[in-house]
Amino acid sequence: MIVALGNMKGGVGKSSMTGMLAKELSKDKKVIMLDLDQQGNVSDWFLTDDLFKQHDIGDVMNKKVEVEDAIVQVRKNLDIIPCFAIGGELKNWSETEMTRVKNPFHKLFKRLHQLGYNYIVCDTSPSMSALEREIFSAVDEIITVAGAERFSFEGIESFQSHLEEIRENLDGNFNNDKLILNRVNESFGAHKGYMQQLREKEGIKLFVVGQSQSIANAQLKRQFLDEYDSKNKWLPVMAQIGEVI
Ligand SMILES: Nc1ncnc2c1ncn2[C@@H]1O[C@H](COP(=O)(O)OP(=O)(O)OP(=O)(O)O)[C@@H](O)[C@H]1O
Ligand SMILES: [Mg+2]
Repeated sequence: MIVALGNMKGGVGKSSMTGMLAKELSKDKKVIMLDLDQQGNVSDWFLTDDLFKQHDIGDVMNKKVEVEDAIVQVRKNLDIIPCFAIGGELKNWSETEMTRVKNPFHKLFKRLHQLGYNYIVCDTSPSMSALEREIFSAVDEIITVAGAERFSFEGIESFQSHLEEIRENLDGNFNNDKLILNRVNESFGAHKGYMQQLREKEGIKLFVVGQSQSIANAQLKRQFLDEYDSKNKWLPVMAQIGEVI
């Protein structure tokens, strides 16, 4: 099962939700996170200097190294292929070599399944370039992550329409009915209104994650949320998503 978290809008919580969901899934399955964002946020979150290997996802896609050479263990049952923000070549590869390869991500995902991973969880960039289109066309599930604020809310429809175009033109065969509305503050009237509108929207399964200092603090400490704040109110939401994917 290959899951990608996405939205062209930046800063809505894609990387945070990638880490939280992957950790939840790793409780009873073998999971790998793929950092497919040149900003390298998920990689920085978990990898201290001594854990950083020589190679990243750009080297794998460029065929400089075998997939196995770029995998780093983060926790029990949970690995990552990082993306180096400085010196990484993912973006460059996507703008040059990628066009010469048919279905580059299908091949990568197949290899990772052969290596025994049950779940591949991909973090993506806040954009919709040829790179994201190739990634999305190869996954099983695309979870939209949106912030509880007006412009982000409006961006959901635009993201969904790009996904429909990928489904048609690139033979995408994914579910995209799940949406995480992040940083909700239930005491804000506007947020309640957004939740209500999304609940009423046909074809959307809504998951709500509230504003929580612990989500940001855990990242500063290079920890997962369940390690930093095991009773956090929003942890069960990841378990709910885990149940339906
Ligand atoms: N529910 C939340 N409560 C409080 N802070 C949050 C929450 N979700 C995310 N954050 C914080 O918001 C910031 C942006 O989150 P994150 O990096 O996950 O967004 P992103 O969508 O991946 O951004 P980008 O588009 O740049 O990749 C981070 O500092 C993160 O710690
Ligand atoms: Mg991110």
